[in-house]
Amino acid sequence: LTAIRELYKNKENYLDKKLTVGGWVRSIRDSKTFGFIVLNDGTFFEPLQIVYHDKMENFLEVSKLNVGAAVIVTGTLVATPQAKQPFEIQADTVEIEGASAPDYPLQKKRHSFEYLRTISHLRPRTNTFQAVFRVRSLTAFALHKFFQERGFVYVHTPLITGSDCEGAGEMFRVTTLDMENVPKNDEGQTDYTQDFFGKETSLTVSGQLNAETYAQAFCNVYTFGPTFRAENSNTARHAAEFWMIEPEIAFADLDDDMMLAEAMLKYVISYVLEEAPEEMNFFNSFVDKGLLERLHNVVSSDFARVTYTEAIEILKKNNDKFEYKVSWGADLQTEHERYLTEVVFKRPVFVTDYPKEIKAFYMKLNEDGKTVAAVDCLVPGIGEIIGGSQREDDYDKLLARIEEMGMKEEDYKFYLDLRKYGSTRHAGFGLGFERCVMYLTGMSNIRDVIPFPRTVNNCEL
Ligand code: 4AD
Ligand code: MG
Repeated sequence: LTAIRELYKNKENYLDKKLTVGGWVRSIRDSKTFGFIVLNDGTFFEPLQIVYHDKMENFLEVSKLNVGAAVIVTGTLVATPQAKQPFEIQADTVEIEGASAPDYPLQKKRHSFEYLRTISHLRPRTNTFQAVFRVRSLTAFALHKFFQERGFVYVHTPLITGSDCEGAGEMFRVTTLDMENVPKNDEGQTDYTQDFFGKETSLTVSGQLNAETYAQAFCNVYTFGPTFRAENSNTARHAAEFWMIEPEIAFADLDDDMMLAEAMLKYVISYVLEEAPEEMNFFNSFVDKGLLERLHNVVSSDFARVTYTEAIEILKKNNDKFEYKVSWGADLQTEHERYLTEVVFKRPVFVTDYPKEIKAFYMKLNEDGKTVAAVDCLVPGIGEIIGGSQREDDYDKLLARIEEMGMKEEDYKFYLDLRKYGSTRHAGFGLGFERCVMYLTGMSNIRDVIPFPRTVNNCEL
């Protein structure tokens, strides 16, 4: 089969020649002696028009096909200078690979994203989701390319873990215990020593702690994989299963971390604009009118920087606009993040040096003793897209923090070891991959940028 992409990219090689294409019928209409099929094979955003005639012996059968059918077409590619599409295929044969039932749920009209979520097995056959999932694929590749070109080593961190990186207690438990007969220890608590791993385990919320160990051997590493959070927040930007890319860099501080994050985001934006122009134009026309202009501006200007304390001063003056009023010490809500990036700075912004109480245990304590060397990157339309920090590299301070937070020291022995054997300044961040895809496409719900979303009360397919 010849891919439809290939026809569009190298038209000269195929015009007036015989070729065979395969794909799914997007629409079909016929008159008495001939008919048209709009065919999509998923290799290119634009479909291909097929013209078929009653010379074909299965003409009637083909004319009765429903949308969604799979066909293989052999014919000649001819230029159509007057039409919207540059060419069409004059078919000699249309082979029916798989007919489609008349109740095919995707008809030619536009369906709402809400409806399409109920048929996540079929939605990749629509224009919007073809565009989203090609961009998602390209974005993943671009991220790998960015880090590999800079010599970063890709580390596969585990998905099952005995530690809670973010300390938020939002872990999905992994257990083989029989829930009807949970074994108890002398204190009457669940006896996890009798479980598969001999201890309490969960799905990871972040690969960071493991990635840090490799950064202390390879200097620059990244991990890119699924992460899981049992956050009970039913919002348009939280999923229970999402992908995260987490670089970790040794001999580096918060400033190096921000430079890396900014270069990475600019790189993936440029890459996707270059590699998926049809898809990006589609988003700009049908999903988010200002998208292309905004992305081009991001690539060509510097991100803003502000400390948490400065951000609170700015936000306080506008407290009348917010549902949640801000004060120093409180975490920023999405409404505050969006106000900063959309109204105050009108571009991506790094917010740094948050109060230690609202951040994770591993972040480096600043000299003021109150804040940590944390950074969140906020972008218009979404809010937080990246969370990162310089890590606490001092053994005693880290141990004190672990004890202060009531964490089990034995679970973090490996992590403390890093501060004992050749500890270095180091930093890293996590980019929420779905939020990145939302940012690149203008799609406004996380459920529409991951193939099979898992959110509160939803684990279909
Ligand atoms: O800010 P977070 O919690 O940071 C970490 O997990 C660090 N360990 C990362 C690191 O320093 N290596 O999460 C990082 C990013 C967020 O900025 C957000 O984009 C995304 O992950 N994220 C989610 N995306 C979708 N659904 C959720 N429930 C998410 N929680 C976080
Ligand atoms: Mg965060």
